[in-house]
Parts: sequence; structure tokens; C-alpha cells
Amino acid sequence: MTFKSLLVGTMLMGTASMNAQTVTLHADQPGDVIPKEIYGQFAEHLGTCIYGGLWVGRDSKIANTDGYRTDVLHALQELHVPVLRWPGGCFADEYHWMDGIGPKEKRPKMVNNNWGGTVEDNSFGTHEFFNLCELIGCEPYLSGNVGSGTVEELAKWVEYITSDGDSPMANLRRQNGRDKSWNLKYLGVGNESWGCGGSMRPEYYSDLYRRYSTYCRNYDGHNLFKVASGATDYDYNWTTVLMDQVGNRMNGLSLHYYTVAGWDGSKGSATTFDKAQYYWTVGKCREIEDVLKKHIAIMDEKDPQNNIALLLDEWGTWWDEEPGTIKGHLFQQNSMRDAIVASTSFDIFHKYTRRLKMCNIAQIVNVLQSMILTKDDKMVLTPTYYVFKQYSVHQDATYLPVDVECEEMSVGGVMRHFPGNLPMVSATASRDKQGTIHLSLTNVSADKDQAVTVNLPGLKAKKATGVILTSPGINDLNTFENPNKVKEAPFKEVSIKNNQMSVKLPKNSIVTLTLQ
Ligand code: AHR
Repeated sequence: MTFKSLLVGTMLMGTASMNAQTVTLHADQPGDVIPKEIYGQFAEHLGTCIYGGLWVGRDSKIANTDGYRTDVLHALQELHVPVLRWPGGCFADEYHWMDGIGPKEKRPKMVNNNWGGTVEDNSFGTHEFFNLCELIGCEPYLSGNVGSGTVEELAKWVEYITSDGDSPMANLRRQNGRDKSWNLKYLGVGNESWGCGGSMRPEYYSDLYRRYSTYCRNYDGHNLFKVASGATDYDYNWTTVLMDQVGNRMNGLSLHYYTVAGWDGSKGSATTFDKAQYYWTVGKCREIEDVLKKHIAIMDEKDPQNNIALLLDEWGTWWDEEPGTIKGHLFQQNSMRDAIVASTSFDIFHKYTRRLKMCNIAQIVNVLQSMILTKDDKMVLTPTYYVFKQYSVHQDATYLPVDVECEEMSVGGVMRHFPGNLPMVSATASRDKQGTIHLSLTNVSADKDQAVTVNLPGLKAKKATGVILTSPGINDLNTFENPNKVKEAPFKEVSIKNNQMSVKLPKNSIVTLTLQ
């Protein structure tokens, strides 16, 4: 497939004309609260996500806090990470937690079969993960092994983590240096059970879910939120069967959706791409709206009381690995294109939080669409990091609907459900607990600056301040040699007059405004 043919052309929609885009913010029509967990993260034993990225060990020459990289720790603390999923991914269904506790020198090694055959020495295990969550201040989300583990093994893991009594597993934990139980709410019962997690049919997995989850007990005041392994992308049958066969035995059902291309036998380069490929990518990312709607429609029909949450516990871009890096380690660069995928995705996620209660981008460090890249003692914050930081104002805020009338571009009919018209402006808004309104605007265009008029009916805002992430090229990124090419800056191109806000958005830009 060549991309020259995909970019059919541009067309003007509605009354909008070039450089006159209109956004209307409906502050008088508040929606659901945007759970902070929409901004969740995912860390897998994959490549250098854990080893080298989060954990270097106490004896490392790299500055560390009890074995965790201090630079990464600080960067994550600034991001207000609400929840961290671990230890996989595919790795979770081959992971045996007992290998990762006790004295490091006695921990057995294993081969990480999913990810490049790397030898895993289990030096990062349960204690290291839960202590990390305490340091970052986030909820842990544990992925349990159903594919190759036993019911007893998973049941004992839950006991080890959450029991405070005189129980065998709590005593083992104490022996290993941790007296009090850790906080654990979210428990995934298997991962991608249709694929790397056991190649199961949904009917068979439903029975296994029922069996495994039965023995995951609530110890000493803990109340587990059990998540069944959900569908990939367009597999609506998986969701249907799980809703029918598992129903209220699960608190949540997961879904995975990656913005991934498969052209010319590859996923495409993270750094070298043309505008046609860029616009295709944003279209593919926007296609998630249709996918969410369809899974939610099934859940609404089967669970009209809205008791079962949908968790998009893997999402993000997936490109070819960076040349020269280890095959199977999924180390990819991250450009302004990835940042625009992130902001556009959040604009969509915010609309569906009645059902959608958590999203976990894949992954936190050094893997796929990461927040942070590390190499030896060097660290780079990616454009995606800055989007998460900018958008953190929307965590736990009340969603406010926005209407966007703007130029649209036809990107051709290569996607399954995306209609092919790509809006050049994307937006979302919310009101936080203090009553402050934030509006985020993305100029998707890689070619043109946009003048956006924002109507603020019923609001008495006098002033707006803002922060911007932008760079002249859509391929622009941060490298270990030039780590600050793309970074946030104060935004000044905004004014308010007669209840209308005028905003000048440079091409390739993401802006979040605070209304006063
Ligand atoms: O995030 C990388 C992998 O993608 C995960 O391990 C797996 O669940 C998914 O296929």
C-alpha cells in the first residue's frame, strides 16, 4: 500500500472556512466525571521498560532511589500517574510471582519468550512493584497469570499482597521484609486470553475467569475490582460472550486498541514518515471512537445498570523498532505525531466515561508510545509525556461538551470504520473540583495555523492562560543528543472579548487553556 494515494484532498465542511474554526463550549451541560484512571500507565517486563527504564538496582552507577532511577521517578511524580498496570501484557501469563520474591541472589531466572528471549532475573518483583506505586503515589493494577499459572498461584498472590492476618502468605511477605499489606484494587484475570494469554475461545475463557476469580478473595478490608481479559479492536463477539457468560462476576472488562499500520510488510518508521502517513495515523487513532461505541453498545444492552466498567488497558501507537535496537524490545521513538495521537485520543475518551473507566497507554518507559526514553544515565521526556502533563488538569474533573466546526480532510477509505473525514481541530473541556474550566485544543493540521473562535455561552470568563506543545515539523522529536527540541511553553495567543475567545493555534500544536 502506498500512502501517496491515501490523501485524497481537503474539503471544507459546514460553514467553517480556512482560518475560521469555531468551538462552542457548553459549560451549562456538565457530563460525567472524567476518572483520573483515564490517564493510566502500563509497565511490562519487556525490553528496557523495567530494567534500565524504571529499575537499575541499588548498586547501579545511575542515580537511584532504592534501586529506582531517580530521574524517571521525579518525572513520573510530576505526571500525576493515577494507576500503573504490571507485569504485562503477554509477560503476565508466563510470570510466576514466587520467582520474584525473597533474596535477589536466590531468585530463579527465566526466559522472556514473548519479548526477544531475553533472560529475566526476577530482580524486580512484587515488592519492587508495589513499593514503586507507593513512591509514585498511584494505584497498582495487577495482571494475573491465567494462561500458564494455576488458580492456587493467583489466589496466593492476592493473599500475599493483601492479607494482614496470621495467614501463610502474609507471614511469607513479612519474612521478606514487608509487614503491612499493600493497597490492591485492580486485578486483571489474564491478558489477551484470545492470543498470547492462552489462545482461548471466549466461551472457554469465561469459564476460566469464573474459576480463577472465585478464589481471589477480599482480605482484611480489601475489595478487589476484578477485570476480565477483553477483546482486541473489532472483536465484538468476545465482548458479547463475556457479557453473557461472566456478567456481574466481573467488575470490569478490558479492551485493547493500538494505532498501528501494516503497510509494505512493516508498521512504519516512528521518525521517517510523510504527511499522508501522518494523517492516516490520526484517522486510525480516531477510529477508536467507533470501536468504543460498538463495545459500549453491547455492554449497555447486556448491563443497562452500567455496573461493569470498560477498561482500555492497552492503547497507543505501535511503530517499527528503532534501527539498531534489540528485536522484540519494542523500543520506538516518539514525535509530535504521537503527541497528536495522545491528545486526540483523550478528546475521544472523555466523551465515553459513563462506561469507560480506565485507559492505560502502552507503555510508560522505553516501550511503544512511552512517556520517557532512557539510555544508560540519559533520560528524554517524549512529546507524549508533555501531553499527559498538560491534560492532567482533566483528571477527576467534570466533562463539559464542546462542538467543533472546522475544516476536514478526506484521508481516504482505508480504515474499517472511520468515515474518512479528519477534523483539523480536536477539542475537549472540563470543570475541575475548584470550579476552574480547562479547554484543550489540538491543531491537527501539519500545514496550516488555525484561528479558532471559542464561544462561551453563559460564562463570564475574562481571561485565559495557557500552555502549548508545538514544533514546526510533525516528525520533530527529542533525542538523547537534543532532549529539549519539543517541550511545553507558556501560551499567549489568546484573548477574550464579549464572551468569545480568540485563539491562534500554530500547526502541529496542542494547547490547554485555563479560563479565569
Ligand atoms: O504492549 C505490548 C503487547 O501488546 C502486550 O504485551 C500485549 O498484551 C499486547 O499484544
